This record gives sequence, structure tokens and C-alpha cells, in this order.
Amino acid sequence: MKLAVVGGGSTYTPELVDGIAGRRSTLDVDEIVLIDPDAYRVETVGGFSQRLLDHAGHPARVRTTANLEEGVEGASAVLIQLRVGGQKARASDETFPHACGCVGQETTGAGGLAKALRTVPVVLDIAERVREVAGDDTWIVNFTNPVGIVTRALLQEGHRAVGLCNVAINLQRKFAKLLGASTGDVRLVHTGLNHLSWERGVLVDGVDRLPELLEKHAEFLGEEVTAPVEWMRRMNAVPSYYLKYYYSHDAQVAKQLTERPRAEVVSDVEEELLKIYLDPEQVTKPDSLEKRGGAYYSEAAVQLVHALTAGGPAEEHVVNVRNDGTFSFLPDDAVIEVSSTVDSSGARAIPQQKVEPRFAGLIAAVTAYEHLALEAAVKGGRDRVADALLAHPLIGQYTKADQLADSLVSINRDFLPWA
Ligand code: G6P
Ligand code: MN
Repeated sequence: MKLAVVGGGSTYTPELVDGIAGRRSTLDVDEIVLIDPDAYRVETVGGFSQRLLDHAGHPARVRTTANLEEGVEGASAVLIQLRVGGQKARASDETFPHACGCVGQETTGAGGLAKALRTVPVVLDIAERVREVAGDDTWIVNFTNPVGIVTRALLQEGHRAVGLCNVAINLQRKFAKLLGASTGDVRLVHTGLNHLSWERGVLVDGVDRLPELLEKHAEFLGEEVTAPVEWMRRMNAVPSYYLKYYYSHDAQVAKQLTERPRAEVVSDVEEELLKIYLDPEQVTKPDSLEKRGGAYYSEAAVQLVHALTAGGPAEEHVVNVRNDGTFSFLPDDAVIEVSSTVDSSGARAIPQQKVEPRFAGLIAAVTAYEHLALEAAVKGGRDRVADALLAHPLIGQYTKADQLADSLVSINRDFLPWA
């Protein structure tokens, strides 16, 4: 099978290739094409990826190209993991909202909207060209943030796409370790949207072990996700760490004002990683890769691609899919992040137990924001940007929405086709 990776020059790519190298028996990949406009990065990452595979005794060949059409032709799955504007644009997403006392984050709030506006047109163009060259059967696995909005854009245009994030697999692994269970035996009742999710159940052999986790390991889990123990117990849920931007918004803003933006830290890590990748002696995944946030991204991706392409029985994975009635309080075309059954016909959300108002309210508000964000991304216009910001629960005031819309448009003008 051929796999194509759009944004293959990412320093994350060796994480993915390492996952493929270790899964030889379950995922039959013989060609990996890394597609990227940055020749230096993709050559560096490609060379190292080939050494990783060779060292593991894996027969797959890595190819690199800047030509999308050539790269995706004949691919069974196309992974999209790009960042329009690079870390420089991310640095602005992480700082411009501070002028209004709002959190600066690459996927949440005004920063997340800026990223969505830059990204949606680029990913839609890529997906259209993939459809033309590779055909309707090719799966698109989308890691590109903001995953919820980008996946919704793809599905709205009829693409065969599934959205993926590593938040759930990280928690699944942590729970398994704490419970002394094997990862594959832990099923999550994962509820919400991408980067706005709660674990409301942790099933091992059909028994919900969440109460036990919250009794014995709440301190540890609270530190991992930045949530107070008493709140987690009262909610009977473990929120994802992205919920700290909501539940302790002001504290996060105060903290951000004293820290380097994550984009700057990541730029340094990337420079270090690229140097390591250039070393011909380096044949295994370097420890420095753990300084990035993508832990187990490879596991999640390899498992998902396997479920979508191998033609085997349905598997359960947490992915981003159409709501289609799963949450009665959301429209069918909303994209939600829940445990789903996945096989070669696609991913379908597993029906959820009733969602209490404390979760449903925030999910519904952010879904409405995502709808407006996508409208702004596809149709353009400064006022549509302001409308999305006003609907966002972290912004929600006229003056802030106006000010942030104006600065977002002026900072990102070069990346907005309509501005
Ligand atoms: C996690 C999130 C990803 C995000 C990443 C950021 O993995 O699930 O969506 O892209 O963190 O990691 P970074 O190293 O770029 O800060
Ligand atoms: Mn994510």
C-alpha cells in the first residue's frame, strides 16, 4: 500500500514513520511519499525516515516531492498535517488575543480562528486535487488543526475524510497504566469536540473504572490535565487539558504573559531535531521528539489507517466524524470527536449516553462558533470573522470581537484569499 503525507517535511513525520516501522505485520505499507514545498526540510526528514525503516528491517521506500499530484497518485490514504504560515503565524495566534485579555492558543479562541481561516482554503484545494488524481476511494486522514473545523470543511465538500487527534489515545494509555490494564482493553466514553472533550467513562471488560480512577488517582490526573480534583469528581469526568483554556482562562492568560510563546519553543526544538535528522549515524527516533506535543500520534494514525484500508472487522477509535444525531442538541453536519466504529466503509459515531447540561452547553456553543468560523473561512469577510468571535464563549463581547477581528485580518492578510 502507498501512503502519502501532505506536510511530510514536518519534524513530526519520523514519529509517524516509526509507528509504521513497528507495525509491519498489521499495516502493509511499501511506499511512503512525503509531499512538502520546503525542499530542505522534506529531504532531511525523508532521508532520516528511510534510515528509520531500514534499521527496523522494514522494506518500505520513502520518496519526497513538492508535487502534490505526483505524490498522491495511487495512494490508499493521504495524511494531511500541514501548518499554513509555519511557526511564525502560530506565534501571532498565540499572542494577538492578549490585547483583549483573551487566551492566545493555536487551536482555541481567536488564535484558533486565525488558524482556521488560513488553513481551510488550502486544505480544501488539496483535497480537491487528491480527489481528481487519486480518485474517490482514497481516504483523507486529517491531523491539520483546528481538526474539528478543517474536518467539517472536508466532509461538507463530500470528501472521504476522518479527523484525528492524539488527546484521546494519550489518556487511554495513562488510564491503562494506572489500572494495570493493557491499552487495547481500555475503551473510552470520549465526549465532545476536538480539543473540547471529556472522558465520561473508562471501560475495561465492560466495567466502568472511572470512579476508581477518580478516587485513587485524581491528584495525578488533575496535574496531567490541569483540573482541580474536586471538580473532576463532581463532574465525574476527566476533561482534556485543552479545557484549561476555558475553565481557568484568566489564569492561563496571566501565565502566557510571563512565558515564551509555544511557537518559539517549538521552533528551537525543530531546529535541534532537523540537525539530528541530518546525522547519517542517527537511525532511531531521537528523545528530543518527545519535546513536541504529538506523543502516540503515530499509534493513533497507524491504527486508524489500518482500520480504514485493511478490509478487516470494524475497530473502535476516537475520531472526528459527522454528528448525524449522536448528540441530539447539535445539527447533523456538526463534526464531533467521539468513540467511533471504523472499517473500510468509514467511521461512525457510537451512540452516547445522555450528555449532561454542564457538557452539552459548552459543546453546543463551540459548535455554533465552529459553524460561523467555517462560514468565515469559506466565504470570507471581516464581519463574518467578527460574528464567529462574538459567538465564541471565550470572547463573546462586541468590543473584543471587533478589535480581534480587525487585528486578525490585518495580521493574516497575506494568507486570506478574500482580504
Ligand atoms: C497535541 C495536540 C495537537 C497539537 C500538538 C501541539 O498533540 O493534540 O493537535 O498540534 O499537541 O504540539 P506542539 O509540539 O506543536 O506544541
Ligand atoms: Mn489535537
